[in-house]
Amino acid sequence: MPLPKAELHLHIEGTLEPELAFALAERNGVPLPYADTEELRKAYLFDDLQSFLDLYYGLMAVLRTEADFEDLADAYLARAAAQGVRHAEIFFDPQAHTARGIPFATVVEGLGRALDRSEERHGVSTRLIMCFLRDQSAESAMATLEAAKPHLDRIIGVGLDSAEVGHPPSKFAAVYEAAGVLGLRKVAHAGEEGPAAYVREALDVLGVERIDHGLRCVEDPELVERLVRDRVPLTLCPLSNVRLRAVDILEQHPLPRMMAAGLLCTINSDDPAYFGGYVDDTFHAVHEALGIGPEGLRELARNSFEAAFLDGGPEEEAL
Ligand code: HPA
Ligand code: ZN
Repeated sequence: MPLPKAELHLHIEGTLEPELAFALAERNGVPLPYADTEELRKAYLFDDLQSFLDLYYGLMAVLRTEADFEDLADAYLARAAAQGVRHAEIFFDPQAHTARGIPFATVVEGLGRALDRSEERHGVSTRLIMCFLRDQSAESAMATLEAAKPHLDRIIGVGLDSAEVGHPPSKFAAVYEAAGVLGLRKVAHAGEEGPAAYVREALDVLGVERIDHGLRCVEDPELVERLVRDRVPLTLCPLSNVRLRAVDILEQHPLPRMMAAGLLCTINSDDPAYFGGYVDDTFHAVHEALGIGPEGLRELARNSFEAAFLDGGPEEEAL
């Protein structure tokens, strides 16, 4: 029996398995530059974040209708449930779809249809977090927040993803401030490929409550001390870090050191269709490669519920 856990760092577009990609390509008459699923899988050899993102954004061409987004999310939730996930906070990238002419409403309503049935069908509670693409402009992020306004009953927070280096969190100060005014929760990818300074900026300038990845905080002992003291959760993704070459091999991942330092670590699958495993596969992998034993695995699972947005947020905590 897999440990019950929450998954907090999961891009729904990154759950697009080759089989579903081909099925949707056929359903929508979208040509794919791969002969079959085998050939597509062979393309999953990445040098860094950007080489992954090129394929990730390209394959999204097959996602066109509400039914496509519904099928994508339902397939993830079924797999997640089988891996012990009881609660999932799911990222999506609206700009990657609106830029292709797919309306914001199509994406959110399609995902929403699957999420609405998730507790009943899969026993998984869900939240939806929309991410701004940091390699797009701050104005585009603000326009995306504006487009989200009619759908805020479905969206609990904002995040920041895509190509990190050269796109520091401070670029998005205004849109995060506006999101806060709307009562949205705040997270951001930081310290995946970018420096520890980006983690500080995400905390100080954007006011995020969690850091996605945060791997490179280990290069800054004062920052580690602060993250420990303030119990800032890190949503680590060890299999992603190996596939995108943030670490050479899983055996060298700093997760055990980070846990020993007292950081509030969670482990997650990020883009499981591309990185070779869903979240319980990740639990098994860190056990095998890093020697994290049953007590450590339970700590990671407990942390995932502590770090989840299952409470009422900063305003409730201030009461
Ligand atoms: N990092 C940044 N952007 C992303 C990722 C990631 O791991 N996955 C999908 N978009
Ligand atoms: Zn991510």
